[in-house]
Amino acid sequence: MTDQSTNASWGGRFSEPTDAFVARYTASVDFDQRMYRHDIQGSVAHARMLAHVGVLSNDERDDIIRGLEEVRIEIERGDFDWSIALEDVHMNIEAALTAKIGITGKKLHTGRSRNDQVATDIRLYLRDEIDLISAELTRLQQGLIELAKREADTIMPGFTHLQTAQPVTFGHHLLAWNAMLERDYARLQDCRKRVNQLPLGAAALAGTTYPIDRFYTAELLGFDAPTENSLDSVSDRDFAIEFTSAAALIMMHMSRFSEELVLWASAQFRFIDLPDRFCTGSSIMPQKKNPDVPELVRGKTGRVYGHLVSLLTLMKSQPLAYNKDNQEDKEPLFDTVDTLRDSLRAFADMAPHLQARRDDMRDAAKRGFSTATDLADYVVRKGIPFRDAHEIVGKAVAYGLEQGKDLSDMTLEELQQFSDEITVDVFDVLTLEGSVAARDHIGGTAPDQVRAAAVRAQNMLASRP
Ligand code: ARG
Repeated sequence: MTDQSTNASWGGRFSEPTDAFVARYTASVDFDQRMYRHDIQGSVAHARMLAHVGVLSNDERDDIIRGLEEVRIEIERGDFDWSIALEDVHMNIEAALTAKIGITGKKLHTGRSRNDQVATDIRLYLRDEIDLISAELTRLQQGLIELAKREADTIMPGFTHLQTAQPVTFGHHLLAWNAMLERDYARLQDCRKRVNQLPLGAAALAGTTYPIDRFYTAELLGFDAPTENSLDSVSDRDFAIEFTSAAALIMMHMSRFSEELVLWASAQFRFIDLPDRFCTGSSIMPQKKNPDVPELVRGKTGRVYGHLVSLLTLMKSQPLAYNKDNQEDKEPLFDTVDTLRDSLRAFADMAPHLQARRDDMRDAAKRGFSTATDLADYVVRKGIPFRDAHEIVGKAVAYGLEQGKDLSDMTLEELQQFSDEITVDVFDVLTLEGSVAARDHIGGTAPDQVRAAAVRAQNMLASRP
């Protein structure tokens, strides 16, 4: 990285060079160079638009496009000398262009400012990332839905308060995760609509005196429309906050899955086996297989929450229009993108390979009187009011605890101590299979409902662009 101390792009009115430390303090090139492709993409479209309206000649346009292409190749080859004195990705690329094609390079910045340029770059960058992240999200959902189909009949305890509540099917539990991700996908797509607007043309803040055609530029860049107000265009970072907020929700969801995976992989639960390649061992305890990937996803959730708060705080006191504060939007946004994309990728890779320990799940569902509600519902069907039924079953549970017996292990005579309405058909409802199969309505845990829900979920994925 070169360290010059005068800036050719705006040095005209200055009588002394920038202090070397200030140059480093104010520069963003160390981190905004990651937007080089989008910066070039935006500049190519801008040059095309300027030629389209007659501000540049076609030859000038072609020189600029060719020069920018060469710059891109240099950057991708790792041959580009990024300079702190040139502050940011925008001025580095423009200076390199001018070094290549001469005076025409200096015409590229006609009718624009770095203020609308950077806003455009971030939107182009984020749009691409939303598409990549959406694809990872879809891949994770596909894996979960496939697994849910395989495990539609697998019975496990369902919990409330982490206490055994009622039996559910593992497929149903997996589709609960999918339901969260389905909302997450919708939020990303909704956010994408507001990302996909073109700020270029707002120039520094007020627009420009050149006869620009913002609709033309918008079309070239695949934006839905130009933004409405030039002051808002250069100062708005709502779209980055919306994205980070959607990302925080996704991380929160994945952190919840992680928590369950960590619990379930433990020797105490034994509900699942995680593939070895997603775990690590201990340097001291030879028996250990640690669920590092879910633990890290859970841990990384915190930094995304932090980025959301950073961005909200960054914006809260800014007067219109652009302020240098906005340069601070990039690191939180970039780290949110990286953290979210990598976490989704790890989960999408891992999800289809989760191994259910079906026997252990079933044994766990048998403990903890998970069919107590089924017994209460049974007694209600015999004509007893629910509150009384609750009391009857409560007593049966107390007896079971004392005797070390589940409800389904009791004899008919034992059960009849609590209500003489109980007859031999009670055993149909006390089985785990009977319990889950009885919850046979949309949204319920019955295996047939899970299979139908999995098909609906797959159709949702198939209808995505
Ligand atoms: N590096 C700046 C940023 O990230 C680009 C815009 C600078 N504009 C300005 N007027 N100093 O926001």
